[in-house]
Amino acid sequence: MVNEWGKIRVSGRFRLLVIAGMGGSGIVGDYIARLSEIYNGLPVIVYKTHMVPEFINDRDLVIIVSYSGNTHESIAFLEKVKNKSRNIVIVSSNGLLEKYSLENNYVFLKIPSGMVPRISLPSMLVSILGLLDSSGYTIVSRDTVIDAIDFLKHGINDLEKKAGDLACFINEWKRLVILASHYPYDVLMIRGKNEFNENSKIPVKVEIAPEWMHNDIVGWEKPYSNMYSVILVFDPDDRVGKTLVEYMDRVYERKDIPRYRVVLKGRNYFEKLMYGSLLFGLASVELARIRGIDPLETISIKEYKSIANSIFVS
Ligand code: F6R
Repeated sequence: MVNEWGKIRVSGRFRLLVIAGMGGSGIVGDYIARLSEIYNGLPVIVYKTHMVPEFINDRDLVIIVSYSGNTHESIAFLEKVKNKSRNIVIVSSNGLLEKYSLENNYVFLKIPSGMVPRISLPSMLVSILGLLDSSGYTIVSRDTVIDAIDFLKHGINDLEKKAGDLACFINEWKRLVILASHYPYDVLMIRGKNEFNENSKIPVKVEIAPEWMHNDIVGWEKPYSNMYSVILVFDPDDRVGKTLVEYMDRVYERKDIPRYRVVLKGRNYFEKLMYGSLLFGLASVELARIRGIDPLETISIKEYKSIANSIFVS
């Protein structure tokens, strides 16, 4: 993964980085956006749709991420965006996007095939970080990535135990799970939601402070029921974030909602993001195991994809 770091580069002075993709591929854009904010990279806008904004032009670098290379929305995005910017990068393992890349000479970052998209988050993320680094738009360096991998390897036993506890907590209550945290961990909560949706086959709601204090909080005045369980996630080194989550905790407590605390570990934002991602990944697979469910199978997505064409093409 890091061996291929930065082997491919793009040249140009860019105004914006636009990242398009869906589901397990689209989350890569969310992660790059937050990392870029924190580590002073290019402004990033993420699109999880087939629709292309009018303002994109040749000053923008457009990255389309689709693990399979066959996702309808991502292909439709490419079809439209290629008339707006010539700076196109495709990140994929296969499919039509690989074929179009070869035919049109798009910059192509090949991801190892034969996995499910969500498991390939690290390779898709690292391939984009490497491309940006070697192109003069560093967000996260190769050394930072290597350090993070070491950090996770060392803590894996503890992480597996915590993931098992978290899965047991969710299964014990069998309620609608709420992932509650503070900015800039909103993207981690979206990743966690997707992992529990796809691996454990349960719905999940995401609540993020400080925006939470301006709407969700009122919803907690008179909920129809207390059939929820909350997972509170915070960065212990972020005083404001931690205090906001403690405030949320007191509101959920007043409604007698069972709560589980996750303290993010790591020496920087990148490590904490990776730590949380691995924790949710392991917990969601463990929950699937407890429930006797195949974590890899996503029948409903397949069903949707089989008719997506008829929705989008008139
Ligand atoms: C995640 C998953 C889905 C897909 C999404 C888009 O593991 O299976 O969320 O990522 O349907 O498909 P791709 O990633 O192939 O563009």
